[in-house]
Amino acid sequence: MGVGATRGRATARVTRMQHWTLDDIPWERFDRSRVDPEILKVVKAASMVEANGGDYARYLCNIFHDDPEFQQVANDWAREEVQHGMALARWAAIVDPTFDFDAAFKRFTDGFKIETWRTESLRGSRSGELVSRCIVETGTSSYYSALRDATDEPVLKEICRNIAADEFRHYKLFYNYLNRYLAAEGVGPVRRFAAAVSRIRESEDDELAYAYYAANYADERYDHKRFIRAYLRRAYSFYRPPHIQRGIGMILKSVGLTPNGRLNAFLTKWVSRLLRFRVQRLARAEM
Ligand SMILES: [Fe+2]
Ligand SMILES: [Fe+2]
Repeated sequence: MGVGATRGRATARVTRMQHWTLDDIPWERFDRSRVDPEILKVVKAASMVEANGGDYARYLCNIFHDDPEFQQVANDWAREEVQHGMALARWAAIVDPTFDFDAAFKRFTDGFKIETWRTESLRGSRSGELVSRCIVETGTSSYYSALRDATDEPVLKEICRNIAADEFRHYKLFYNYLNRYLAAEGVGPVRRFAAAVSRIRESEDDELAYAYYAANYADERYDHKRFIRAYLRRAYSFYRPPHIQRGIGMILKSVGLTPNGRLNAFLTKWVSRLLRFRVQRLARAEM
C-alpha cells in the first residue's frame, strides 16, 4: 500500500477536474507576424518530449508497483504532459503546415527509448526518483515561463502560460510524494542531493538533442554535439534572472535547503552569468 493514499486520490481528482483543454486555447488570435522561427524549432522539439509522457508513466508505474495511488497520479500527470505535446504540436503545425508531428514523433521514439521495463528506479530509490522528477518539473516550469516571456506570439504565450502552471503544480505533486517517501525509505540528505545533481547533469544528454533533431532535421544524420548545442543555444537564451531565481529556489527546496536565502541569491547571479556565457560560446560553436 502506498503512502498518503487518501491525499493522493484527492490531488488526482482536483487535477482532473480543473485541467484546461486544447479548446481553451484562443487559436483565433494567432499572429504570424510575431512568430520567431528560432522559437518554432524548440517548440517542435518540446512537443516530442512532452508527448512521450505515456512511456515515462509506464516506467513510474513499474517503479512504484505497489502504490496504486501514486500510479493513478502518474497516469493523470502523463495525460497532462501528452496534452502539452499536442498543444505545442498544433501551434507548430499552424506556423508550419509541413510539420508532420506523427512522423517526427515516430523518429524520436524509435531513436530515444525510456527504460519502461525497469522495476527499480535508475536513481537508486523511489525518493531519488522523486527528487529527479522535481528537478525535471523545475526545468520545465522555468523553461515554459521563460518561453512565455520571450515570445510575442499571443497563442504560444497562452499555451506556455497554461503549461508552466501545470509544471509548477507537477513539481508540488512530486515534492509531496518525495517527503512521504524520504521518511518511509530513510533516505538522507547526501543521497537526496546526489539524485538532484545526477538529474541536472543529464539535462544535456540525448533526450532534448534527439527531440530537436527528430522534429527539425528529418533528412540529416543525428549528431549529438551539433544538436545539443543548437538546442541549448536557443533554450538558454530565453532565461532571465527571475526565471532562474525561482528555478533555483525549487531545486534547493527539493534537496532540503532553504529556497530563497543567500545561497539562492548567489546561485542566481552565478547561473545567470553562466547561461549568458554559454549562449555566447554555443553561438560561436554553431557558426
Ligand atoms: Fe509538460
Ligand atoms: Fe510536468
